[in-house]
Amino acid sequence: MGVYNIAVIKGDGIGPDVVNEELKVLGRIGEKFGHTFNFTDVLLGGAAIDATGGPIPEETIEICKNSDSVLLGAVGGPKWDHMPGELRPERGLLGIRSALGLYANLRPAVIHKALASASPIKPEIIGDSLDILVVRELTGGIYFGEHGYRSGKYGEEAYDIENYSEFEIKRIARVAFESAMKRNKNVTSVDKSNVLESSKLWRKVVIEMSKDYPEVELNHMYVDNAAMQLVRNPKQFDVILTSNIFGDILSDEASQITGSIGMLPSASLADGAFGLYEPIHGSAPDIAGQNLANPIATILSGAMMLRYSFGLEQEAKVIEDAVEEVLNNNIRTGDIADENSVRVGTREMGQAVLDAIG
Ligand code: IPM
Ligand code: MG
Repeated sequence: MGVYNIAVIKGDGIGPDVVNEELKVLGRIGEKFGHTFNFTDVLLGGAAIDATGGPIPEETIEICKNSDSVLLGAVGGPKWDHMPGELRPERGLLGIRSALGLYANLRPAVIHKALASASPIKPEIIGDSLDILVVRELTGGIYFGEHGYRSGKYGEEAYDIENYSEFEIKRIARVAFESAMKRNKNVTSVDKSNVLESSKLWRKVVIEMSKDYPEVELNHMYVDNAAMQLVRNPKQFDVILTSNIFGDILSDEASQITGSIGMLPSASLADGAFGLYEPIHGSAPDIAGQNLANPIATILSGAMMLRYSFGLEQEAKVIEDAVEEVLNNNIRTGDIADENSVRVGTREMGQAVLDAIG
């Protein structure tokens, strides 16, 4: 029985809609298992810009740092699209990852049996299941390298530098190998080492690290090939280990293969047990506040938090089983509904998960 202090960034768009359901589910788990979850709301992204003039208030960083973990809905929206780069909501997201040292982003792409038909991939390729874990490096590479403008041969130029240190590669590779040991013991490291120096170092360090994990089969793949293989034969993958930018792109692709981006949670982890948990989907401003969003990705992110930050495996499993039960009962929000489904809204879906938890 524990007491856990959790910073909550509901964020923009559908963020508050889906996080509210997640908090109810965690509240129920607390009652059932005798844990106390203390939630503290903090601002980030567009909501922070509106309230404070900037996307990442100092107070937010402080409260997050003093918490046991962080939950996040989504940030961004057209309202802030005209803002200069430094002041965009996305900068808040990159900033908080960096400030909290969240270098390891785990993005599972899983197909739930009941939703297999939602995948855009042919049934003979996808079968009735898929379980890929994308391990994306989250605080280095081109998103955090030097950015700038200079005058060049043809006038103004802009540049962004891809930069990786051995240290950064090692620590993310370690996470991938450790994850693989708990899964199917297969790591595909994705790079572009036929062109990029940073990728050559990436590959060298990953090979070095693989010696610590003789049971894990390691393959290397160029990113262009990986993008193709994900569609051609996604079942060949277990853990995909890759850089910040490649992971950003491939995790969107992997999530779409499951056919239901509204179902996929993610964890961003620092050293130790600290983590930030958010759905993979964005803020979907067009359906915000209308009881339309699918809260399952966010509810499952709460389950990931229980597992990775608090070591509450049983409690995490109770949430995951409840979601599975709701799906098997054909209860669906609009994004995953078909003609046979009981169509529900965000709150009803949250309630259905609560009912299934019992
Ligand atoms: C993601 C998003 C972010 C990223 C954006 C919003 C900055 O695309 O979490 O994948 O690129 O990391
Ligand atoms: Mg992305």
